[in-house]
Amino acid sequence: MSDIGRKKVSEELIGDDVMIRFGKAEADDLAGILDVAENLPEWFDEDARGRAIPIDIKYQTSFVALKKDKIVGFITLFVNEGRLNIGWIGVKKGFQRQGIGRQLLSKAEELAAELGLREIATSTLGDSVDYPPYEATRQFYFKQGFQIYMRSQTDNPGCPEEIYISKKLS
Ligand SMILES: CC(C)(COP(=O)(O)OP(=O)(O)OC[C@H]1O[C@@H](n2cnc3c(N)ncnc32)[C@H](O)[C@@H]1OP(=O)(O)O)[C@@H](O)C(=O)NCCC(=O)NCCS
Repeated sequence: MSDIGRKKVSEELIGDDVMIRFGKAEADDLAGILDVAENLPEWFDEDARGRAIPIDIKYQTSFVALKKDKIVGFITLFVNEGRLNIGWIGVKKGFQRQGIGRQLLSKAEELAAELGLREIATSTLGDSVDYPPYEATRQFYFKQGFQIYMRSQTDNPGCPEEIYISKKLS
């Protein structure tokens, strides 16, 4: 288990009554995170929701955004190749475009700085694939300053082109 998995939990109010809690997701959080993922089937398929996310949550560090004690957004993080990587990120549809995704990312960037990491990264569906939900995802990341550093063609029909994107942190 990495050091980031052992960080203390902290909480921060980010406006209205949305609270960001940072720390390793607790057992109780899994249902709330899966509830958000279930709300986003255009991004998270059955395999992601039923297999991958529940496993990854156990081994990655997470921030969750809570509104009235219910999880409305989450981000999971792990270190790889010297970068802080985003495993999964999601904000429930009714709560999107309120700055929650940006705040989750900002907490992740603070964590990267604490860990002495200079870059935050993830991968997503490439822009050669015409699929509007992921166009929105790319817009989000590009707006936050991410840039493409690698592209790969895959034989996964659900993701024929993957882009690797990162943001250099000052
Ligand atoms: C990507 C996601 C986490 C963003 O969360 P969010 O809380 O809605 O994002 P924010 O409100 O913080 O948006 C910050 C900025 O990103 C850009 N942005 C966010 N969503 C956008 C969209 N659908 N279309 C275009 N730009 C968008 C905007 O510039 C926005 O600022 P603005 O609202 O002031 O214009 C959310 O849309 C989501 O859960 N998407 C589905 C899951 C997903 O894509 N996960 C990643 C898979 S790799």
